[in-house]
Amino acid sequence: MAEETSPTTKQPPEQTKKPELKKLRLFTWDRFPDNKSKEGKAPIDWQARQAGGSILRQVERIALSIKEPLARAVKNPHLNPFYYSDTIAFFLLIVVALTGVYIWLFYEYGFDVSYQSIERMDRFFVSRAARAVHRYASGGLVIFALIHAIKMFFTDRFRNARWLAWVAGVATFAVLWITSITGYVMIWDEVAQILVQTFLNFIKPISGWASGFYLYFLTKQAFDNGFVLMLILLVLHVGLPALAGLLYWYHIKKLSRPKFFPPRYWMVIMTAMLILMGLIFPTGLLPRVNFAYLPTAIPLDSFFLFYVPLSMQGVAGSWIIWSALIALTALVGVIPWLWPKKKVEPAILSAERCTGCGNCAADCPYKAITMLPRDDDTPFKEIAQIDPAMCVSCGICVGSCDTLAISLGGYAP
Ligand code: HEM
Ligand code: SF4
Ligand code: SF4
Repeated sequence: MAEETSPTTKQPPEQTKKPELKKLRLFTWDRFPDNKSKEGKAPIDWQARQAGGSILRQVERIALSIKEPLARAVKNPHLNPFYYSDTIAFFLLIVVALTGVYIWLFYEYGFDVSYQSIERMDRFFVSRAARAVHRYASGGLVIFALIHAIKMFFTDRFRNARWLAWVAGVATFAVLWITSITGYVMIWDEVAQILVQTFLNFIKPISGWASGFYLYFLTKQAFDNGFVLMLILLVLHVGLPALAGLLYWYHIKKLSRPKFFPPRYWMVIMTAMLILMGLIFPTGLLPRVNFAYLPTAIPLDSFFLFYVPLSMQGVAGSWIIWSALIALTALVGVIPWLWPKKKVEPAILSAERCTGCGNCAADCPYKAITMLPRDDDTPFKEIAQIDPAMCVSCGICVGSCDTLAISLGGYAP
């Protein structure tokens, strides 16, 4: 087995001869030609590993063959949006939040009142553009989050120790998508009416209340201004992103240096594009909800509201699409367990070779290495300690260590 990983408590002798660092740096793998653990494990056959094309590797190859022409066309990787998909998604999340707060300043609660407040916003070009930026940034967020998720999948960063990031990512995505639906209802135009109808189709078998809903609205509308319902919608529209924020915290919890924002030029490009699109293509407003009839041919956002056509086909259609969506989300969420990888043993450290330089702790992206004070008969003041529970066996620290004090796969350093 590997050497002890924790520092000893023995006091160093008064005059210790400082070993030369240079000598330690001379360690190379040639010095351990068989690379065997003390238990006599066979050396890793790296060539055989690479040749053994798993399904995932084949899929990765296909993905690369799609990606490479784009990478060649773009040339500079820094201009390739796929490279920054996670941070661009986060930046768009912030744009959505900021434009949301701005729109909320002018939004009022109540069936007529909500609709009229949006009509008023649409008369002024700044708030009209803000509405459009809010919507386009939400769409962009979903697209970039999807690209990021696909990238994580194809680069095999979704299973074993990364399950929490994967599951929290799926949950964040689902919550953000439901938030977008509540946003469409808040406008209280014909799209909102269609969405209410799809919701009623879904709950009809569960609640008798759904059948009487139209009648309720037709009669109630005369007396009730809908303040409470629209306020509930707003609370949902703000509360769900708050839940997404909490899930996002779990998403990046294990990372020691998560990057949140893309480089500045990407933020400038994205902001300029969103403002331009917001000014040129305002989102517009359809006629107000009218429960006396059901609108038929209305333009729908096929991106967020793709489920609506099937959901409008009565109770059966609604249950088919929602069951399929819930099953798909659950299936994607459990992929880390459906397709587990053979666990590579966490990194191990040779206390003898560690000089306490701290490179590995600084480089470990998963907060798995801590530098502890060292108090033994070596001249080094600190020693690295690896937490096997946090280690995802990524191997970065192996490359960070000049003295070859760390190894992976259960092999002695
Ligand atoms: C909703 C919007 C999302 C945002 C803003 C986002 C953002 C991020 C960020 C900033 C990181 C850290 C990257 C790093 O610094 O190395 C990350 C990691 C990760 N994300 Fe997401 N993500 C989102 C959705 C998703 C989804 C939907 C999935 C999967 C279905 C996913 C899967 C992962 C995984 C597995 C990691 C961990 C990577 C690792 O441990 O190396 N993310 N994400
Ligand atoms: S990189 Fe880490 S393990 Fe290697 S010598 Fe420095 S502190 Fe020790
Ligand atoms: S292999 Fe090393 S760098 Fe990677 S998670 Fe484990 S301790 Fe951190």
